[in-house]
Amino acid sequence: MRPSILVSRHVFAEAISILEAVGDVEYNDTSSGLSASDLRAAVANKDAIVCQLTDRIDAELMDSGDKLKVIANVAVGFDNIDIPAASERGILVTNTPGVLTDTTADLAFTLLMAASRRITEADRFLRAGRWHQWEIDLMCGHDIHRHTLGVLGLGRIGRGMARRARGFEMRVIYHDVNRATPEQETEWGLEYVEREALFRESDFLSIHVPLNEQTRHTVSEAEFELMKPTAVLVNTARGPVVDEKALAKALETGQIASAGLDVFEAEPAVEPRLLELENVVLLPHIGSASIKTRTRMCTMAAENAAAVLTGKRPPNPVNPEILDSV
Ligand code: DGY
Repeated sequence: MRPSILVSRHVFAEAISILEAVGDVEYNDTSSGLSASDLRAAVANKDAIVCQLTDRIDAELMDSGDKLKVIANVAVGFDNIDIPAASERGILVTNTPGVLTDTTADLAFTLLMAASRRITEADRFLRAGRWHQWEIDLMCGHDIHRHTLGVLGLGRIGRGMARRARGFEMRVIYHDVNRATPEQETEWGLEYVEREALFRESDFLSIHVPLNEQTRHTVSEAEFELMKPTAVLVNTARGPVVDEKALAKALETGQIASAGLDVFEAEPAVEPRLLELENVVLLPHIGSASIKTRTRMCTMAAENAAAVLTGKRPPNPVNPEILDSV
């Protein structure tokens, strides 16, 4: 019997072809996805689910799919999936690392530049017909070149950010629970600093940690108190890593200069106070959104699912410890 596959929401078409080659596909070709109860019903007889970060894949859902062998997330992050629950049930979870590193680092650097040079604020100003003459202090922001970039979380995207900073002759400092080796630090042009020093010394602080119980609200009031009044915060990781209300206060009171955000605590909702502020650039979670990268993320997820369904090792397992039992 051919395996049965659920695709929970719209993906680039190339992924569907890969899946149809190995099984029967039930495709919810909408961007809105399925309600929790519809998702539970849809997963009932499936061997695989190809899902996205907007799908909550919890133990209850897994228990509705008693044939489920693989959950293939179309994202590098997997905080939408209860990994221990999947492992307990012998279900393999896969993600899409690597392919989106440079696209996301490009966007993080774009946010850094837009926030420090007041790009979206200046664009709004001009479109509103408020530009009447060149002025010496019109829309002055902060320099990027030869300033200090702080990277919180030295994964692939954090290192991508550091590579981009070199072109601007920036000093790059980082903090991570896992320190790189001295050889890597030299090769990548990075200095390790303690967590507090990262917040104190950074002119630009870019967040690249995954969301988990240790990192939830890891940037909050105490961290903003440490930061420079000229500092710019960039978050392209996960919204709940930053306490959005504390950030709104820091931006309102001038505790930091500005911020560039691609992710939010309760997407698609945005803290209303942030929407009122000129000194924050707000984007709708588009870090990896180039056509090439998003297409590749979809095909990678499909390849991961197809591999498991045809008895092969998937290229990107998140919980490889259960592979022996697949
Ligand atoms: C991810 O992959 O985790 C991003 O947030 C979306 O590209």
